[in-house]
Amino acid sequence: MQTYLRILKYVKPYWKNLVLIFILSIFYAVLNGLSIYLVIPLLDTLFQGSGATQQVSTTQSLQSSSSFLPGFLIDLKETASQWFTDFVYSGDKIEILMKICVVILIVFFLKNLFGYLQSYFMAYVEYSSMNDLRDAAYKHLHKLPISYFKKERVGNLISRFTNDISKIQDSISATFSSLIKEPLTIIVFLIIALSISWQLTLFAAVILPVSMLAIMWIGLKVRKQSTLVQRKIADITSVLQETISGVKVVKAFGMEPYENRKFVKETKSYLKTILKIVRIRDAASPITEMISIIVGAVIIYYGGTLVLKSATISASLFMGFLLAIFQMMKPIKDLSTVNNRIQEAGAAADRIFEILDTVPDIKDSKDAKTLNDFKGTVRFNKVSFKYEDSEEWVLDDINIEVVKGDIIALVGPSGGGKSTLVDLIPRFYDPIKGSILIDGEDIRNYTLDSLRSKMGIVTQETFLFNSSIKDNIAYGLDNYPDDKIIEAAKAANAHEFIIQTNDGYDTIIGERGIKLSGGQRQRLTIARAILKNPDIMIFDEATSALDSESEILVQEAIERMMKNRTTVVIAHRLSTIRNATRIIVIERGKIIQTGTHQELMLRENGLYKKLYEMQFRDDD
Ligand SMILES: Nc1ncnc2c1ncn2[C@@H]1O[C@H](COP(=O)(O)OP(=O)(O)OP(=O)(O)O)[C@@H](O)[C@H]1O
Ligand SMILES: [Mg+2]
Repeated sequence: MQTYLRILKYVKPYWKNLVLIFILSIFYAVLNGLSIYLVIPLLDTLFQGSGATQQVSTTQSLQSSSSFLPGFLIDLKETASQWFTDFVYSGDKIEILMKICVVILIVFFLKNLFGYLQSYFMAYVEYSSMNDLRDAAYKHLHKLPISYFKKERVGNLISRFTNDISKIQDSISATFSSLIKEPLTIIVFLIIALSISWQLTLFAAVILPVSMLAIMWIGLKVRKQSTLVQRKIADITSVLQETISGVKVVKAFGMEPYENRKFVKETKSYLKTILKIVRIRDAASPITEMISIIVGAVIIYYGGTLVLKSATISASLFMGFLLAIFQMMKPIKDLSTVNNRIQEAGAAADRIFEILDTVPDIKDSKDAKTLNDFKGTVRFNKVSFKYEDSEEWVLDDINIEVVKGDIIALVGPSGGGKSTLVDLIPRFYDPIKGSILIDGEDIRNYTLDSLRSKMGIVTQETFLFNSSIKDNIAYGLDNYPDDKIIEAAKAANAHEFIIQTNDGYDTIIGERGIKLSGGQRQRLTIARAILKNPDIMIFDEATSALDSESEILVQEAIERMMKNRTTVVIAHRLSTIRNATRIIVIERGKIIQTGTHQELMLRENGLYKKLYEMQFRDDD
């Protein structure tokens, strides 16, 4: 229920539309009732004697039910029916028929017009409020730390933004019909039924509680299953997403059959769950209908005997009554499924609110300062770190001091913790123990924005957005002057290949830059970092082997990027290492050695010398 009230919060800004919808719905319901009511005079005209006799019977029945309706309604009805009889029941039968047909046409036209407007405005409210919710969740996603994205599968997150939101939308329209539309329709037809015969109406009222009880029980069962279904859809999306982004690997390893099996397994499990739900949910309608029809048959029999034997009620009135009762069945039936829809939406909403409720553990502290200029040092002070769900320390008591202008090269065996170490500087993660200080101040005391704005980060994976080369280089910098972009591209050795593409700097590069070579992509991301012109450059060199020409171009770009900056680089290339002011060798989360290339090469059994001999010898 609480979840539900939270959904309504997103609908609240559109309350004016809801008022309008309410008014339109009243008109719609009344016209709907009227359209049924018109059948009575129509039947009279077609099957009975003169209009005059019928007039009497209508009035009679109105009086008989008067004690059950509030006074003003009776007055209203009386005036209306007086006006109606005066207007319609004049002239001969054909003339009367003509008039009734015209009135029916007008009533139906208006009814449909109001019905249309009402559903349009309702859709407007639904879609707008769900857009707001989606936007809010998306914005919140950006506040969440990297660790969150490592934990959640991408497909799962995407599915929340698509499937779950549309489920929630369903619940808004369900609420609307349960609070406004269906009750109004029921009331109108109830008034009609009561005005015809209160005894028959009471008799019919048995349908309500019986069917309601049956449906509520079914609703409970559906709720339990529907979370499961949403989760299964998310699983399918995940497999799909992984296959699509890893299509090359899948093909290269001939893993199509395996991926197919994986996918089919997920879809099968989804199918099983959904069929289970469908069995329960779809039983709701026939069960309600059967119950209704049983009671309906009894009413027809009882009412029919009244018409045939005692003539207390005319045949046309009884037909009108039946129509009114049957018209009421659909809204009652719909109302009974509203609960299901709301329940389902509740489960979906829980999943989206889970995103909104995830409190980012890396955020600005209360009185965070702005890091204006980077003056001198970055210092790791007894830093230890481990990932949330693991026991082992990935970094153990790390002490490093980086002085402005330094090029610090991190080397070491794979999995030693190098990437993790540099991830701590822009606060992608916070240390568990110890602290990182920039200019003597713990980086947790700076605003995230100002901290990260001082840094250029090039990661192991080169990510390019699906837009023009220009936009990719100037990512996050709107309307940046072209000559600066070109300058950065030149510094990154990217200019040459860019101008050879069809549209030069305006060339759109495919999703994830798939139309570019590995070396070209690296140079573009380097150009992006150079353009940002950061004080501190963090660079996780890609390990991917490049051909020697490309390697030289990338190398030059890296050297230019490091010039006049403070750099922490995870180095895989010998030339980068040679340029370093200091090399830090990291193994299993610990600093094993530090020094320059020459110094470290002098230590006979040192790890660096071994690594060098294994990795870089051939490059020499
Ligand atoms: N998100 C994560 N959750 C849990 N453990 C992780 C996570 N990322 C990395 N690790 C673990 O932390 C350790 C250090 O990983 P890291 O990526 O820092 O190594 P690396 O030195 O950069 O290796 P490489 O040279 O291969 O890039 C590894 O044992 C790795 O399994
Ligand atoms: Mg790494």
